[in-house]
Amino acid sequence: MSRKNIVILGSTGSIGQNTLQVIEAFPERFNVLGLAAAKNTELLLEQARKFRPKYCCLMFEESFRGYEAQFKETGCELLWGKEGYKTLASMNEADIVVSSMVGAAGLIPTISAVEAGKTVALANKESLVIGGELVMSIAKRTGAQIFPVDSEHSAVFQCLNGEDKAKIHNIILTASGGPFWDRSLEEMENARVEDALNHPNWSMGAKITVDSATMMNKGLEVIEARWLFDVDVEKIKVLIHRQSIVHSMVEFKDGAIMAQLGSPDMRIPIAYALSWPERLALEVKRVSFTDIARLTFEQPDFERFPLLRLGYEAAKRGGSYSVALNAANELAVEAYLARRIRFGAIQKVVSGVLEKIEQRDCKSLDEILYWDSLARLYAEDMIGRTES
Ligand SMILES: NC(=O)c1ccc[n+]([C@@H]2O[C@H](COP(=O)([O-])OP(=O)(O)OC[C@H]3O[C@@H](n4cnc5c(N)ncnc54)[C@H](OP(=O)(O)O)[C@@H]3O)[C@@H](O)[C@H]2O)c1
Repeated sequence: MSRKNIVILGSTGSIGQNTLQVIEAFPERFNVLGLAAAKNTELLLEQARKFRPKYCCLMFEESFRGYEAQFKETGCELLWGKEGYKTLASMNEADIVVSSMVGAAGLIPTISAVEAGKTVALANKESLVIGGELVMSIAKRTGAQIFPVDSEHSAVFQCLNGEDKAKIHNIILTASGGPFWDRSLEEMENARVEDALNHPNWSMGAKITVDSATMMNKGLEVIEARWLFDVDVEKIKVLIHRQSIVHSMVEFKDGAIMAQLGSPDMRIPIAYALSWPERLALEVKRVSFTDIARLTFEQPDFERFPLLRLGYEAAKRGGSYSVALNAANELAVEAYLARRIRFGAIQKVVSGVLEKIEQRDCKSLDEILYWDSLARLYAEDMIGRTES
């Protein structure tokens, strides 16, 4: 069996590091061809020493300064910037591109990979939130396969198992509810960054962890599911499931429901995206139903988590509304993590920006980038006026 050449865009992040763990466990199946990060030069170098990729890429050329000789010693060629990311995403030798950057910055490299007809293991949900229509239409034209890495979407993909979408009655995305699941709006208003970053079940990057605390993450996932599975938004439901054992479900027309269960461990969906249609013998914690004893499900509270409601609204409207929702949320979360604004201000910034945005289609990359920049300007202005 020939080894698959893997490129990881965002290798120093939570998904990137989990992907390298999977690759390390199956050296006979996978070879690391390229690794890319934004600015974490030390960790990228450590990864280059261990995995000996042919290429390493950093977003900023100056991040390599003083490290060139050490990278050269590992035998890799250095790339940088947006062009570097695009080159890595589309290179001939790559079999699978793992798109695991965070934020809207993932859109252009993801498009490059899809345009080149690559198999894409997609963690970067923001690229579908802002460019779902474009990305999926390019994939249709080039034949690029997109395998979801997000655990909920991987679960839906596994439940569907190739069944026709006409058979779907509902897709049920489960949500842990995050760390503030039982808090009142007043209690959440001044929630500390340390508490927002303390997710009960998953260990993830900072941005998605805060998105889980506001439940924006589930809103973004509704939009992601709408594009990945090409279903009406009305058919995508969200259920709070505190234990994070049922990763999502599909209810079919005949009333049968398929669910995918497992430990909350991102290596499981990552490995499936890399090895489909095979399953790898992963060493992960096995689910013991008798230890868990109870699996619970309840309706989400759209009043206490208004960003979930706005996520649904964006899934229905699409276009500039979806792009602006994502851009405003990215800046608001960044400002919250930098302790510039309160937790409660995140949703105020997002809804304030959405009130100012006209509804327009976004079919081209230029249109997406235009609305993204405009929403960022509005968000920065609003954050400046909201600062605590
Ligand atoms: N973590 C999870 O369990 C999980 C689960 C489902 C979906 N996802 C999705 O997967 C994506 C990655 O999440 P994560 O938790 O792994 O994030 P993370 O830990 O913050 O890692 C982000 C990665 O992207 C790189 N990066 C950041 N900004 C960049 C930019 N402007 N251009 C290029 N690269 C950039 C970072 O490089 P530096 O380290 O150099 O900054 C890092 O390698 C997100 O879209 C998230 O929603 C994550």
